[in-house]
Amino acid sequence: MAKKVKTTQSRKEEHVEICAKEAVQHRQRFWDEVHLVHCALPEVDLKDIDLSTTLFGKRLEAPIIVAAMTGGYPGARELNARLAEAAAGCGVGLGLGSQRAALEKPELEDTFSVVRKFGVPLVLGNIGAPQLIRQKGQGPLALEDLKRAKEMVGADVVAVHLNFLQESAEWDGDTQARGCFGAIAALSEKLPIVVKETGAGISREVARRLLGTKIAGVDVGGAGGTTFAAVEVFRAVKRGDRTAERLGRTFWDWGIPAPVSVVEVRELDRKFPIIATGGVRSGLDCARAIALGANAAGVATPMLGPALKSAKAVADEIEMLKNELRAAMFLTGSADLAALAGTRCVTEGRTARWLGR
Ligand SMILES: Cc1cc2nc3c(=O)[nH]c(=O)nc-3n(C[C@H](O)[C@H](O)[C@H](O)COP(=O)(O)O)c2cc1C
Repeated sequence: MAKKVKTTQSRKEEHVEICAKEAVQHRQRFWDEVHLVHCALPEVDLKDIDLSTTLFGKRLEAPIIVAAMTGGYPGARELNARLAEAAAGCGVGLGLGSQRAALEKPELEDTFSVVRKFGVPLVLGNIGAPQLIRQKGQGPLALEDLKRAKEMVGADVVAVHLNFLQESAEWDGDTQARGCFGAIAALSEKLPIVVKETGAGISREVARRLLGTKIAGVDVGGAGGTTFAAVEVFRAVKRGDRTAERLGRTFWDWGIPAPVSVVEVRELDRKFPIIATGGVRSGLDCARAIALGANAAGVATPMLGPALKSAKAVADEIEMLKNELRAAMFLTGSADLAALAGTRCVTEGRTARWLGR
């Protein structure tokens, strides 16, 4: 058990280090294949544009979520504090990284619970779907553990992440997946949960099954941004593990493009809450996501560099995203997000082919 905790802890630290320093991005920018149609006569003043929204019952100043990244090792406390301070100040949501390490080792709790004191308007807890079932001799997390994870960070919803791409490229990954769907369905009856992919996307087939449960929403976590297959390549090279390196390189670009995943889920249900994460790099990308049917956009890696500096650097980046989103809304004549959601988009290239357009 102690060895496993150590592994979880150091792996989370390595992820931050690698994502901050190395090129671990998908080779294609799918959001650039989504074009919003320009409106030469917007008939709205830029200053009157309303970016606000309500997600999971919480009011946000803009449809932006600082996506799940970290926690569970001593240095993560400061990063989470900076992310939370900025998210609270800018009125946007915040996702925490996997809370597994803190559930296994309570002395790491404050690396997550530090976010409680900032008054972030929407907080998403986080746990991996593999931990909901039995893994390598360890029992599944109990409902009490998940309630503790939620309470630890004052979460409004708990994200259950799906990361089988990473687990399959990782040495000693949690590759037992049988039973995860049933565990998610059962948990959705007891706690408000969001099912979140981490870079490989959610297909319409998987979404259809998830829509049959009581989950509160999905984060499509699609391809086009940070790829955890690539992260595993860097970890494998360090260890001299040629098998994991080869797997990571082969599956580097695996996954459903994030914009495609948004459309596939939205086509199944007009109202179901969707967060679009995966390669969102500007407020224009946020606008594209909303226009395709997302309720909010999640941004992970672009927040990491700023978080390593200060809360102000994170807040500055979030304000940049808001400004770009506002400009995109102005240029499409969208006075609010409902209007943006109805704006016309043109897709091209691989994104269009995936969508059969
Ligand atoms: C350093 C780092 C750590 C991450 N850890 C988690 C995690 O613990 N749980 C999770 O659900 N997603 C995690 N993610 C995935 C992100 O939330 C997001 O889905 C993914 O990075 C794609 O977004 P991006 O292209 O904006 O980076 C992590 C991402 C990064 C960069």
